[in-house]
Amino acid sequence: MDGELAFSAPAERNRQPILELLRTLLPPQGRALEIASGTGQHVAWFAQHLPAWQWQPTDLTAELFASITARCAQAGLANVQAPQVLDVRSARWPVADTLFDLIYCANMLHIAPWDCCTGLLQGAARQLAAGGQLVTYGPYLEDEVPTGAGNLAFDASLRARNPAWGLRRREDVQAEAQRAGLRLAARHAMPANNLLLVWQRGN
Ligand SMILES: C[S@@+](CC[C@H](N)C(=O)[O-])C[C@H]1O[C@@H](n2cnc3c(N)ncnc32)[C@H](O)[C@@H]1O
Repeated sequence: MDGELAFSAPAERNRQPILELLRTLLPPQGRALEIASGTGQHVAWFAQHLPAWQWQPTDLTAELFASITARCAQAGLANVQAPQVLDVRSARWPVADTLFDLIYCANMLHIAPWDCCTGLLQGAARQLAAGGQLVTYGPYLEDEVPTGAGNLAFDASLRARNPAWGLRRREDVQAEAQRAGLRLAARHAMPANNLLLVWQRGN
């Protein structure tokens, strides 16, 4: 915890490298939906540094919404909406009436059952505006890339905590994306053996 705010050390470390890449990927302004906002460190950082973007944080439960709201208020951010409960597996997301230029989801796919991956991809296919991008960030397994020892240990620890969790094969996510009508548009290697993947509509 950081004062009253929920705090994630990894989110603090990776927010700046992710922001720097987002700057190169995104148009100057747009509407962004964050899935699995967690502590709100990412949305607050991105909203502060990409002020022409409007941000909608969400998560499976409202448990950390007070932290998200307080963090954004402390930073004086007027471009972050109140967080909303959103389960990616639901057939109709609570933001169903809005299309987004960016849907951003960090570190959820491996800490959730596989149907959350399906739900995320199908939901993004429904909710992306024309030319919009789904960005997923986190560790993956890849057929052609040796998995680092740290990620192998992380995968084992996740599966021990919950057999339905674990690092996802990037190729499996890609096949699921194709079924949902999305294609992998870009793959960016990030610090600490993470990937930032960009998904767009089309096959
Ligand atoms: C490790 S945290 C990542 C938080 C934040 N994105 C980050 O990178 O620090 C995993 C998040 O996934 C969310 N999550 C798990 N299942 C979900 C679901 N079905 N729909 C939406 N979010 C989900 C959890 O509530 C949690 O906030």
